[in-house]
Amino acid sequence: MRLDKFLTSSGCCSRTEAKRAVRAGAVLVNGAVPKSSDVAIDPEADRIVFQGKHIVYRKYVYIMLNKPEGYVSATEDGRDKTVLDLLPSEAIRPGLFPCGRLDKNTLGLMLITDDGDLAHKLLAPKSHVSKTYRFRSKFPMSRADAVRFEGGVTLEDGYVTLPAKIELDDDCLGGYITLTEGKYHQIKRMLEALDNKITYLERITFGNLVLDNSLERGEWRYLTEEEIAGLRADRK
Ligand code: URA
Repeated sequence: MRLDKFLTSSGCCSRTEAKRAVRAGAVLVNGAVPKSSDVAIDPEADRIVFQGKHIVYRKYVYIMLNKPEGYVSATEDGRDKTVLDLLPSEAIRPGLFPCGRLDKNTLGLMLITDDGDLAHKLLAPKSHVSKTYRFRSKFPMSRADAVRFEGGVTLEDGYVTLPAKIELDDDCLGGYITLTEGKYHQIKRMLEALDNKITYLERITFGNLVLDNSLERGEWRYLTEEEIAGLRADRK
């Protein structure tokens, strides 16, 4: 692997910053200053130090993206832009994919990783990983609607949803919904079953992860070690 790729995918810096850091002697490979930022290194065997800190190789990457409208949750799509198109080339690794789906018009927290095993466990129905969404609806939600939500809603195909939590805004035209499952277009279909319609949907939590509100729409960052450990604890 190239040294700059190692540094960018470890979350140390961008490729340009890696170049600058190498020139400034702020990067050591096995105790020596490398010739350039694109030298080949063995991430598992070589000791890389960046600005005095030993950088431990991460086998997998975990990215939090604040998904904007208009992007599909896929690795490629013949027609639309995908969430991976929002990442710079230095963050792209083979095997990177969005962990779960948000509809094209849904915004907010998206986990992108190449750790297939963890993703699989987080998405497995039996894991019941909770996800909270901020929503707005076309018509006011009644108390009776909220009770139905909390008891389980029968969708148009006969599926009865697991009990969901709902907290309504004062105007009853929105609020927060927490699900512990992830059926196709679930919230959209739950509101349709109540003769209502979603006008805005944004995911703000996924398991232990909380959307970082310093991320603008379309921005991303690597997860912290703490967040990764929390996700591992979320899988059952
Ligand atoms: N439910 C939906 O209807 N859409 C999403 O994107 C997520 C949950």
